[in-house]
This record gives sequence, structure tokens and C-alpha cells, in this order.
Amino acid sequence: MSEKKRVLTGITTSGIPHIGNLAGAILPAIKASKDELTDSFLFLADYHSLIKSNDPDLTHTSSFEIAACWVACGLDPKEVIFYRQSDVPHIMELTWILSCLTSKGLMNRAHAYKAAVSENEKNDPDKGITMGLFNYPVLMAADILMFNADVVPVGQDQKQHVEMTRDIALRFNHHYGEVFTIPDVSIEEDAGVLPGTDGRKMSKSYQNAIPIFLKKDDLRKRIMKIKTDSKEPGEPKEINESSIFSIYRAFASDNQTKNLANQYQEGIAWGEAKELLFELLEEKINPFRKNYEELIKDRSGLEKILLLGAQKALDVSTPIIEQVRQVVGIREFGD
Ligand code: TRP
Repeated sequence: MSEKKRVLTGITTSGIPHIGNLAGAILPAIKASKDELTDSFLFLADYHSLIKSNDPDLTHTSSFEIAACWVACGLDPKEVIFYRQSDVPHIMELTWILSCLTSKGLMNRAHAYKAAVSENEKNDPDKGITMGLFNYPVLMAADILMFNADVVPVGQDQKQHVEMTRDIALRFNHHYGEVFTIPDVSIEEDAGVLPGTDGRKMSKSYQNAIPIFLKKDDLRKRIMKIKTDSKEPGEPKEINESSIFSIYRAFASDNQTKNLANQYQEGIAWGEAKELLFELLEEKINPFRKNYEELIKDRSGLEKILLLGAQKALDVSTPIIEQVRQVVGIREFGD
């Protein structure tokens, strides 16, 4: 077994990512995956997507498009263990085993579950709440513990789940003996926080997002719609309150960013600033878009990539699940 640090994170397969996700999560994760000192596990959390949606077409399509998106944006399946959660059934087996020693009280405290309860009327706190939502942190613990991950990089909203994973692992190890690594959480400070076209945080739910794979003309149109103040050409402009500037900075070199800041000082027209942003984004996204279009044409090619990833993942999970079964007493009869 390798001595490298295992870094593991999951991507819930619902909805296609926007450029905020690209700058805040996808590109940093791809960069981190190239670190020689770590073994990087990156997976499509397709069973998690059933918590949010019971639409089979949406579940299937999202999983495919998100896989294609990550590969198109530069994820190298040779450098990372890139797999679908559903291709590693050991995770589901471990979910059950962990459920049987996780206290219900711990799950009652999970933010996602509590938020759903608090939206309900007092007389029916369980309305619309599935066991999937309730058990979600246990599934996430199984995702992490199944590979004895050392570090789990996640956004702030997922921190509690990793803490719960630690609790569950400690309890298991205390009861059955040391099997699991206790994972550390690593918080991605500004993951995905870019302003959208209306100035609020870019988010699918606000409909202010710029999807990564718009056609060139549509990308341009979307950028031209970004809201600005009413300063005239020639008037100096504020960089700190400008969505155009924030998005530009997320993709530009330091020099490019400095130049644009100067142009703001000199009173660049908003239309011109938008044009510069469009040119920069088009230059960055164009190669990804080309890869994406190739990948979605070749569905079985992507399937092959994921099956190779699944094989590598199973090589790691198999000895661990065997040990888990042993220690909990699920094992062959005989001496
Ligand atoms: N729940 C995480 C999210 O919504 C995704 C996820 C699933 C995950 N399993 C994981 C992240 C395990 C880290 C480790 O963002």
C-alpha cells in the first residue's frame, strides 16, 4: 500500500456546473490532484443525487454531463482515482454497517435535515423528509471511510458532515478495533464564490449563473447582460463593486488584473470591460468546450474511463470491507 496521503472528495451529480464552480472548485481540485505527494480520489456521488431528485432521466443525464465536464476541464483519469460511487457497492454495504452504530441523536443534529424540518409546519415536522435525507451523513461517512481517506476538502457547508464522519469512525474503532483512519477536513475558503450577472453570489438557484459550456455567442450575450452602475465612459470606476472585475480576476494573470484595474481608473466604458471579460473567458473556456463536445459524442469512451477508475477504487476498498466484515462478525464458518 502506498504511503501517500489520500485526499478524497465527492461531487453530487445534480445540475451542470457554472464558471463560479469552475474557478472555485473544479480547477483548484484538478490542480491539487496533480500533487505527487497525494493519492487523489474524486468521485461522482450519484447515490447522493437520489436524495435531491427522483427523476431517473435527470439523475442519469447529470451524472454523465458532470463526468464529461470534469474530464473536459483537464482532469486526468490517470493521475486521479475518478469513479462513480455506484460502481463501488462496498460503499452501500458499509453505509448499513455504520448505520447500525450511529446514534439517531447524532443524525438529528445534521444541518441539512434540521433545515428541512424547520421549513415544515409544526404539526408535521416529517413532511417530505425521506430516510435518504436523514441518513445522508452516514452515506457520506461511508464514502470517506471506505477508502481510509486522510484529508477531505469540502466547502464550509459540508464541514459538519466530515466531523460526523470522524465521530462515527472513532466509535467504530473504539468498539471493534482500529480499522478506520480518522479523516481531517480541509475547508475550501472561497469555493465557488463569484458574483453572478446580477451581482449576487453566482448560483443556479438565482438564475444569475454563467454556465461553463455556453456556445460562444451565448457566452457573449450572457456577459453583456451583467449589471453595472450607471457611470459614463471616462468616469473612473470602482473595482470592488464590479462583478465584471471579480469574474475577470478569477481567471486572469496578475498582470492582466493590474491592467484592467488601471483601465477602471482611467474610466473604461462598461461595454469595453465586458468585451475584455468575454475575450478572456472565451480564451480559457474554448479548449474545454471543444473537449466537452468530443466527450459527449463518445459515451462509451467516458464509460471506459469510469470503469477503469472503478477498478482502481475497488482495489482499495476490497481489503478494507473484508476487514470490516471480519471485525463485525460477518465471516465464513469454519475454524
Ligand atoms: N455531499 C457533498 C456535497 O454536496 C458531496 C459529497 C458526497 C462528498 N460524498 C462526499 C464530499 C464525501 C466529500 C466527501 O458537496
